[in-house]
Amino acid sequence: MRKKIIAGNWKMNMTPSQAVELVNTLKPLVANEEADVVFCVPAIDIVPVTEACKGTNIQVGAENMYFEESGAYTGEVSPDMLTDAGVKYVVLGHSERREYFYETNADVNKKVLKALEHGITPIMCCGETLEQREQGVTMDFIRQQVKVGFQNVTADQAKTTVIAYEPIWAIGTGKTATTEQAEEVCRGIRACIAEIYDDATAAEIRIQYGGSVNAGNAAELFAQPDIDGGLVGGASLKADFGKIVNYK
Ligand code: PGA
Repeated sequence: MRKKIIAGNWKMNMTPSQAVELVNTLKPLVANEEADVVFCVPAIDIVPVTEACKGTNIQVGAENMYFEESGAYTGEVSPDMLTDAGVKYVVLGHSERREYFYETNADVNKKVLKALEHGITPIMCCGETLEQREQGVTMDFIRQQVKVGFQNVTADQAKTTVIAYEPIWAIGTGKTATTEQAEEVCRGIRACIAEIYDDATAAEIRIQYGGSVNAGNAAELFAQPDIDGGLVGGASLKADFGKIVNYK
């Protein structure tokens, strides 16, 4: 039985002091032993948020990471910096990073490998544009993202990773994918993992849905057989996140 994983993606929101305030507000609301609860926060918020989350069920994640160990990469954050600060998860290949910062599937693959090497669990994002959905190439596109993203990742490593299916047209738009659409693609991603590895790996890997998840639609989405939780943007910054975490 896969444990649900519900992660907030704060994006470029919350100064360090606002971040601590938000954690203190959400702390009592997100208690749920049945799910892994992760707050993925801006790099500068990681240290104060980790401190504020001590003694709670909240685990801290980063929103990005570079694939080199250290050196002349101005502005980047290394895997050791994250682990030393207490980070357990890292969002990789979010569509906003692919779109605005030109991250490719090959870049995402390097980051996935590097995170795994350091014991950080990647939350690897994939998802189609509205145009791709209308052209009927959704699954082809996502299979490519997953296949390249998992190159040279072993089956044992793959079992521990998280994939977030986020249709780009549903992100921040209030337009959630239907439960059927979300389940169909998550099932397709699991089938793709079974093809790359085997059924056992596919059965263990956790696949989230993301894209306008809110307190009203979480229960139905998370009840689907291939949806193991959510990656939540806007609603993770509000008290609503407590309702999403306690969706049952
Ligand atoms: P949203 O963002 O919940 O605001 O649509 C999801 C995401 O980008 O991870």
